[in-house]
Amino acid sequence: MPELVVNVDHIATLREARKAREPDPVHAANLAELGGANGIIVHLREDRRHIRDRDVYLLRDTIQTELHLEMAATEEMQQIAGEVKPEMICLVPEKRQELTTEGGMDLQGREQEIADFLRPFQVRNIKTSLFIDANSKQIEAAYNCGTEYIEIHTGHYADAPDHVSQKRELEKIVNGINQARDLNLKVNLGHGLDYKNILPFSKVSGVREYSIGHSIVARAALVGMERAVRDMSEIIRGFPGNVDINF
Ligand code: PXP
Repeated sequence: MPELVVNVDHIATLREARKAREPDPVHAANLAELGGANGIIVHLREDRRHIRDRDVYLLRDTIQTELHLEMAATEEMQQIAGEVKPEMICLVPEKRQELTTEGGMDLQGREQEIADFLRPFQVRNIKTSLFIDANSKQIEAAYNCGTEYIEIHTGHYADAPDHVSQKRELEKIVNGINQARDLNLKVNLGHGLDYKNILPFSKVSGVREYSIGHSIVARAALVGMERAVRDMSEIIRGFPGNVDINF
């Protein structure tokens, strides 16, 4: 059964908009767990634009599910993640100017470097994931990095301007999932998923986790965090999870 991992970065975005003490992503994470989240994910960015170090350490101490940490492959993040010991790290590309993560990592030619970066986590039984586009060369490169998981970027699917291109993007994701599974890679999905565009995934098998932030936080602003997470969790729990899609 696929799981829901809730990203609480944008609770922190709201806090940072006023440089205030609230809302607190730690409180939001607790409510997300009450709403049925299987895990909490945060992205500690180099510029600390939303999540701060204090959030990561407090989440580590307070959440009762899994903590997943999105991070750039830098020495600073390697040190922090080594201290925090999240259940999973997910490496993402990071650019200071971007509004949000714009695409997957380019792993080609970096296999050895990334493998070396992941190894200290793997020896400590921390699961590792690489955020990549649904591109066969990147999936093969991810395999060569020795990661256990990949997270396929669903942003192009979510942003597709019309039904035809959305279907094409979905097809790429499904092909990516199948290729990854043939290589024994476990697959998570994330970016831009919301309460509507997630529905076609009910027919897609082989997804371990959905990593969802913005749409849940947006709904939470209106109906509350627990309810927003529960609404998404019920959708994902309703997925049969074992039916192969046919195009
Ligand atoms: N997965 C990754 C790797 C991300 O960078 C993000 C955004 O922080 C998400 C998932 C969640 O995306 P969204 O906030 O659009 O649901």
